[in-house]
Amino acid sequence: MENHVSRWFNVQTVPESHTFSIEDRPGKKQIPLCRTIPIIDLANSERTEIVQEIIKASQEYGFFQVTNHGVPEDVINGAVKVLEELFTMPVDEISKEANSNGWVYMGSTSFATKGAHLWRDNLKHPCHPLEQSMQNWPQKPTRYRDIVGAYIVEIRRLSLIILELISQGLGLEKGYLGGISQVQFLTASNYPPCPDPSLTLGLLKHFDHSLITILFQGNVEGLQVLKDGKWIGVEVVPNAFVVNIGTQVEIISNGKLRSAQHRVVTNKEKSRATIATFINPCPDCIIEPAKVIVNEANPPLYPSLSFKEFVNVSKPFGPFTDVIQNGCIDE
Ligand code: OGA
Ligand code: NI
Repeated sequence: MENHVSRWFNVQTVPESHTFSIEDRPGKKQIPLCRTIPIIDLANSERTEIVQEIIKASQEYGFFQVTNHGVPEDVINGAVKVLEELFTMPVDEISKEANSNGWVYMGSTSFATKGAHLWRDNLKHPCHPLEQSMQNWPQKPTRYRDIVGAYIVEIRRLSLIILELISQGLGLEKGYLGGISQVQFLTASNYPPCPDPSLTLGLLKHFDHSLITILFQGNVEGLQVLKDGKWIGVEVVPNAFVVNIGTQVEIISNGKLRSAQHRVVTNKEKSRATIATFINPCPDCIIEPAKVIVNEANPPLYPSLSFKEFVNVSKPFGPFTDVIQNGCIDE
C-alpha cells in the first residue's frame, strides 16, 4: 500500500480541499463499535429463524452481517487483491483505462460533495447482467475480468438468497424481490490512512438507493451507521458480508424495514479496502409499497415511482433527503 499512499497524499495535515464542515465531519468524539448489529448464520437449518433474524435486524438497524454465506474465501480474497493492484496502478493509467472502457474512476480529488473531497479512491461499474457489463470493465490488471467476474457470480447468488429471505419475511410472493433485482453495480473503494480522521470522511452520510447492498469490508473498521440519532461503528467479522436495506426495499415494505444512513470514517494507520455491490431494480421498474402489505389500516406511505424517477426526485419524499451519488442508475 505504501506506493498507493505516497501517490495519494503524502501529507502531515488534511488539506483544505478534504476538510468537511463542522456539521459533517466526524470530530474527535470516540464512536463505539457496535456488537449488537446482528450476525446471521446463513447455514442455520431453521430457515424461519434466519428470516426472523433478518427482519428484526432490518427493522432495528437496517443493517446485518451474514456468515456461512457460501462465497469461497479465495474468491473474495482474489477480488480484493486484484482491486488493490488496480488502485496501485499510476493514476494516469487508471484514468486512461476508465475512459477507454467506460467505467468510472474517481480519484482522490475528482469527487466533491458538500464542498469537500472524499478521502478515498473509488471505482464503479455495472456488473449485472454479467456478460454484457463485463465488456466495459477494466482490462488491466489482465486478470480483473475473470476474478471480479467470479466474485460477482457469487454475489448475485447470495443476493437472490437474501432477497428471497426478505420476501418471505415480508409475506411477499416467492421471487418478488429477486424478480425486480435486475441491475447490479460494483463500487470498490480504497480509503488511505489519514493524518487527522476527525476532519474528513471516506464517505459522507448517505442512504443507499438500492434494494439491498452487499459489502465486503475487509479487516479494517470504518463503516458507521446512524441509529436513533447516534453513530455506531460496524465491527469487522472475518469473511462476513455486511448487508444493508436500501431505500427501495424500505418503500416496498412500506416502512416496515428501514434504510439507515451510514458513512465511512478514515483511520490514521491503515488503508481500508471495501467492495460494495448495489442490488438495484432496473431504471424503469416501478417501486411502490407492495399490494399485500398495504391496506386500510396500513396505507401506503410512499409514492409509486420508477427507480429512475425516485433517484431524480428523491428529495421531497420523507426521510431520503441527504443523498449522494449512490443511485447507481444505469444512464
Ligand atoms: C457505499 C458504502 C461503505 C464502505 O459505497 O455506499 O456505504 O465501507 N460503502 O465502503
Ligand atoms: Ni452506502
